[in-house]
Amino acid sequence: MLKNQAGDAKRDSLHGHWSSRMAFILAVTGSAVGLGNIWKFPYVAGENGGGAFVLVYLICVIVIGMPVMMSEILIGRRGRRNPVATMELLGKEEGSSPRWKWVGGMGVVGGILILSYYSVVAGWTLAYIVKSATGAFAGASAAAVGAEFDSFVGDWRQVGLTHTIFMALAIFVVARGVERGLEQAVRFMVPALLLLMFVLLAYSINSGYFGQGVSFMFTPDWTKLTWGSVLAALGQAFFTLSIGMGAVMAYGAYLPEETSITGASAAVVTADTGIAILAGLAIFPLVFANGLTPAAGPGLVFNTLPLAFGQMQGGVFFATIFFVLLAFAAWTSAIGLMEPAVAWIVERFNRTRAQATVMIGLLIWVIGFGSVLSFNVLADLTFLAGTIYDNVDYLTSNIMLPLGGLLIAVFAGWVMCRNSTSDELGNSGNLFKAWRILARFVAPLGILFVLLKAVGLLDWVASLIA
Ligand code: PHE
Repeated sequence: MLKNQAGDAKRDSLHGHWSSRMAFILAVTGSAVGLGNIWKFPYVAGENGGGAFVLVYLICVIVIGMPVMMSEILIGRRGRRNPVATMELLGKEEGSSPRWKWVGGMGVVGGILILSYYSVVAGWTLAYIVKSATGAFAGASAAAVGAEFDSFVGDWRQVGLTHTIFMALAIFVVARGVERGLEQAVRFMVPALLLLMFVLLAYSINSGYFGQGVSFMFTPDWTKLTWGSVLAALGQAFFTLSIGMGAVMAYGAYLPEETSITGASAAVVTADTGIAILAGLAIFPLVFANGLTPAAGPGLVFNTLPLAFGQMQGGVFFATIFFVLLAFAAWTSAIGLMEPAVAWIVERFNRTRAQATVMIGLLIWVIGFGSVLSFNVLADLTFLAGTIYDNVDYLTSNIMLPLGGLLIAVFAGWVMCRNSTSDELGNSGNLFKAWRILARFVAPLGILFVLLKAVGLLDWVASLIA
């Protein structure tokens, strides 16, 4: 029997297990692949000038995202509890402090805040299923598609309604539990989404502006790169991989002992990054072909893709399927966003899974109205990063996730002893060494540097010394 550090039998999860290695990879991929890849990546890349941002994002994914994801999964599997309890337990077990539980706590809060706006945008995709199916975009001009989007998000009742429907769907699957709820949804969705992305890509290649799109995405113009965009790239890497807030940690808690964490992480990171790049390649040529601006903000995808579908043979069909798949992708991600909070309530307050899900779901639904109103009634209410939506997004993606990732890397790299981590990762020589260097030095220092640089603290300290 496998032993843990304290010498007793390995712990078991209280919420069941994934039925196989593939089921785990599918679930984490389902959580990773979502609006972050198809809606957020193109719009954030567009706002930050393209090429240089994309390059920094890719570097962040490889040297920070990958080791943090491995750290998060290994911590989750070793603790086998919700992220709060896992961090507390391992903090004590590794001879450090139970206060590490606050890292889990920040993740619980982060997931709630992210889902509060994520659900609003997921609601847009629900509305777009109906709009597409009823032919609203068939042959429509860029101006008409844009007007349709503006009038839709401008009406808080419609946005509020679709947000409500999406939250109801999320509550429904999460309440059903680990295996029945999560696995099945992903099995068809990811391959189908991939297929549709290729259809869009083919269309995009034929648009005559493919070269311009590719060059926007991959020719770095370093003059456009500010420290703010570097932080945005780092935040996007965390957001799209679902790391830094305990979602992957919670999933790791249900992972069977023998599964390779390195292999699973590599598979997820590859799939997730591939889909984001595909989305960019499909979208930017269309942006240029139609004289739109890449810096259009959160509406970018909703303004470009319906336009492309509207001109395509069989466009009504493809557009409908596309938004159905996007809604599915958002759905499987929403599950990951709720899981830390739900698992925590179940374990800490002895609630049933259904009760915990409804409680957390209602809380998120209410907070979500801050973002619902950010696009209409309260659009002019701006402070710090912008509207309420902008602020929740900035706080979570650019601060909480990187900070969570930093602490997770420090915990796995410095607090946990070498034996504990090599036991979980399988001491596979150079791979383990490489992970350890990335988790101990590269990831924490990289995150810290970017965070400090972006808020200007580093320059302030330097000016004090000089
Ligand atoms: N990774 C998801 C996406 O790209 C969002 C997410 C973040 C899901 C954090 C779970 C946890 O859409």
